[in-house]
Amino acid sequence: MEKRFSLKKFKNKLNEMVKSSIKQSKQILFFMENILLVNNLAAILILLFSGIFILNNQLTIGIYTAFIAYMNKIFATTSSFASLGMTVKPVCVSIERTQEFLEMNDENTEKCEIISENIDSISIENLRFKYEENGENIIDKLNFKMNKGDKVLIKGENGTGKSTLIKNLLGLYSPTEGEIYINDKKYSLIDKRSIRSKIGVVSQNVFLFRGSILDNILYGQTNKSKEDVVSLIKKYNLEKYIQGFENGLETEINQNGIGISGGQTQIIAFLRATIAKKDVIILDEGTSNMDAETRKIILKILGERDICNILMIISHQEDGMEFVNKTLCLKKPNDN
Ligand SMILES: Nc1ncnc2c1ncn2[C@@H]1O[C@H](COP(=O)(O)OP(=O)(O)OP(=O)(O)O)[C@@H](O)[C@H]1O
Ligand SMILES: [Mg+2]
Repeated sequence: MEKRFSLKKFKNKLNEMVKSSIKQSKQILFFMENILLVNNLAAILILLFSGIFILNNQLTIGIYTAFIAYMNKIFATTSSFASLGMTVKPVCVSIERTQEFLEMNDENTEKCEIISENIDSISIENLRFKYEENGENIIDKLNFKMNKGDKVLIKGENGTGKSTLIKNLLGLYSPTEGEIYINDKKYSLIDKRSIRSKIGVVSQNVFLFRGSILDNILYGQTNKSKEDVVSLIKKYNLEKYIQGFENGLETEINQNGIGISGGQTQIIAFLRATIAKKDVIILDEGTSNMDAETRKIILKILGERDICNILMIISHQEDGMEFVNKTLCLKKPNDN
C-alpha cells in the first residue's frame, strides 16, 4: 500500500517535471531563435552604418576592423546560447521515455495468484494472436495440450509464429483471443513471475553478461553452488566443453559474449536452464549454433533423461528427435 502510494507520488512529481521541462525548452528555443535574429540584424546594421561613416571619412578602416573583431567575440558568446537547445531537447525526450516506462500497466492484475505447485499440464485453447491491433493474425485458433512426460517438437517455416507462441507461454505477450491454461488454471489469473520461475528457456539469442562462465550458469540461482554445476556437467558428459576454456568455469566472458562461439554460448544457456529443476524446458532453436556432434550430445540428454515435466523443442531439423511423442506444426494462418 505504502509502495503504491509512493509510486503515485513519484509519478505526479515526474508529470510536473515533464510539463515544466517542455515549457522551459519551448521558452529557451524561442529565446534562442530571437538571439540569432538579433545577431544577424546587428551585423547588417553595423555593416551599413560603418559603410556610410567610412565614405564620409568619419571612420577609418583600422577602427572599423578593430570594432568588428570585438563585435565578433560578443556574437560568438550569444550564438553559443543558441546551441543550448540541442542539449536541452534530448534531456526532455529522456524524461518522457522514463514517464512512459513508469506508466506501463502492471503485467499482473490484483486477481492474479502465485502458482506454487509444479506445472503438470499446459493447455492452449483457441489461441489467436496478433502483435498490432490492425495487424494480421500470427497465430489463429490454435488448440494444443501438453501433459507431464511430453516431449514436444514444434516445427514450421520461418515466421509461422513459433517464437511468438513461446512469448505467449512466458507471459511476455497476452493472447488476442483464447486462453492458455496452466494445470487447468487460467493463465491470465496467475502471477506471471511465478510461471516464469518454473520455465527454463534456451532461445535463439542467448544473453551472456560480463562475468565468469560459472556466474553465467548460476545466473538467477540462490541455492546452487559451483559443486552443483560441476556435478551437472559430469552427469551430462559435457566436461570437454568446459575444459576447452582457458580457465574452465572461471573463464571470464567479455560483454556480449565476445570470445565465445555460438555453440559454446548455447551449452552455457542449456546448463543455465537445467541447473535448477524446472517444470518446463523450452529450446527455441536452442541447438541451432551447435556443431553436429554437440547437438547429438544435447539431444541424447534430452531423449534419455527426464530433465523436466514438459519439454518443448523448436527446431527446423528433425533428425535425432525420434524421442518426441508429440509434434505441433505451425502454419501461416492463411495457408492450408
Ligand atoms: N515484436 C514483434 N512485433 C511485430 N511483429 C513481430 C514481432 N515479432 C515477430 N513478429 C512477426 O511475427 C511473425 C512470426 O514471428 P516469429 O518470430 O514468431 O516466427 P518463428 O516461427 O519463430 O520464425 P523463425 O523460424 O524464423 O524463428 C513474423 O512475421 C514476424 O515478423
Ligand atoms: Mg523463432
